[in-house]
Amino acid sequence: MDQLEVRVQPPDQAARELAAEIAGLIRARAEEGLAFVLGLATGRTPLGLYAELARLHREEGLSFEHVVAVNLDEYEGVEPDDPRSFRAWTRAHLLDAVGVPVERALIPPPDLAVAAEVAWCRAFEERLRALGGIDLQVLGLGRNGHIGFNEPGSARESRTRRVRLAPETRQDAVDTWDGLDGVPTHAITQGIATILEARRLRALAFGLAKRDIVRRTLEEPVGPRIPATFLREHPDARLCVDEPALGRG
Ligand code: F6R
Repeated sequence: MDQLEVRVQPPDQAARELAAEIAGLIRARAEEGLAFVLGLATGRTPLGLYAELARLHREEGLSFEHVVAVNLDEYEGVEPDDPRSFRAWTRAHLLDAVGVPVERALIPPPDLAVAAEVAWCRAFEERLRALGGIDLQVLGLGRNGHIGFNEPGSARESRTRRVRLAPETRQDAVDTWDGLDGVPTHAITQGIATILEARRLRALAFGLAKRDIVRRTLEEPVGPRIPATFLREHPDARLCVDEPALGRG
């Protein structure tokens, strides 16, 4: 319990350090001829990290040939090419820049029928097991404490599944979807148990808007009310925050 390492640093430094850690792990695996399974979050927070990974690829020859990219979540009911899908977002902000074909990434298709989603979720968990699990999972924090789209109330034992998005999560997405009516109501997300099985968890939270949820993540009892508190149960988890997110500065 409470093994979470908290690192206070400006966002650009966090991006550089985490990218360097990921690069080291990718290279170590590649030397053994093994794949590295990298878990990706979407959203504003990891943009600096992905830009730095793309720079390492471009300027320092970091190869992603042995990287399998796995996403945390995806909206439901979106056209596969819709730029607002997490699939398109991940291509635009990382995969295309580092030469990982989207076919080599494990991302829920955004246009599946509900019944097919259930089968996809089961197959996804099996695929992860076959890959040997996620080596490092990047996470952001929702302002209600969600990780992935595990909204408040999500059980410690939850697995990859279809979920209903919380009102505040949909509200936070209105700009992207041209108003609340356009925001998808459901999504597929890795479960809490799925996320906690990753060997390393690296969560990022920057800016004043994350101050309240960072404090609650660190101080409130571990449990489904604030899913991000489950990070404190993981043996190799780190939360990188800047001074404003920590309530300083
Ligand atoms: C995105 C995801 C979410 C975000 C969280 C923070 O794939 O799973 O949990 O990480 O909502 O979003 P930003 O970074 O936009 O504040």
